[in-house]
Amino acid sequence: MRIPLVAGNWKMHGSLAGGEALLAAIASALPLPGVEVAVMPPFPYLDRFARAFGARLAFGAQDVSEHPLDGAHTGEVSARMLAEVGCRYVIVGHSERRRDHGESDELVWRKAEAAAAAGLNPILCVGESLEEREGGATERVVARQLAGLRGREPLLGRLCIAYEPVWAIGTGRSASPEQAAAVHALIRGICARVDATIANSLRILYGGSVKASNAAALLAAEGIDGALVGGASLDAGEFLAVVRAAAKRVPDS
Ligand code: PGA
Repeated sequence: MRIPLVAGNWKMHGSLAGGEALLAAIASALPLPGVEVAVMPPFPYLDRFARAFGARLAFGAQDVSEHPLDGAHTGEVSARMLAEVGCRYVIVGHSERRRDHGESDELVWRKAEAAAAAGLNPILCVGESLEEREGGATERVVARQLAGLRGREPLLGRLCIAYEPVWAIGTGRSASPEQAAAVHALIRGICARVDATIANSLRILYGGSVKASNAAALLAAEGIDGALVGGASLDAGEFLAVVRAAAKRVPDS
């Protein structure tokens, strides 16, 4: 059975005081049976927030260095450091990093590898642009983004995958449950070719304009095992509504 995961990606938002207030409101409703909750604040807040709230929810980072060992890599943060301050998860390959920092598929997989080697669980993001969807290239793009799994089979046991269509991120326009479920099935199929048993227990999250009003429908769809939430994770009421929708989800495996 796959326990749903709802992860809040704060992106570059918040402050010490604001983040603490938001987490206090979220944590007061947690833990909740039937769902795992994680929050990804900006790097500087991780240590303090994980100490204060780590008993009630999990923490993760929004990115990690691909370099597994300490070294001369100015500005980078290693997976070991993230594990040391209480992270369980790390997002790799978010489309904003692919877009703003030119992160390649190969680099994203190296980051996932570095994260797993340090005992973290990478949440690897995939998803097509609007142009790619309209051009009928969704399957090809997602398959290409996942191709790095070949040769890295041991990673699968630690991995979560987030399907985040780029056109749905921050636009208010989410994929329909049917559109998301179709891509989730494709992703699970690709992973099943590597290891069918692990693929069956792999959590595949949907991300892209998830909010209180659409969470229940998205999370009820076949093969959607949770949500990666951006904008709505900055509002305790909205975020907790997504968490509650996930907790009510009837597992399909
Ligand atoms: P959004 O962002 O929920 O604001 O669309 C999702 C994400 O970027 O992970």
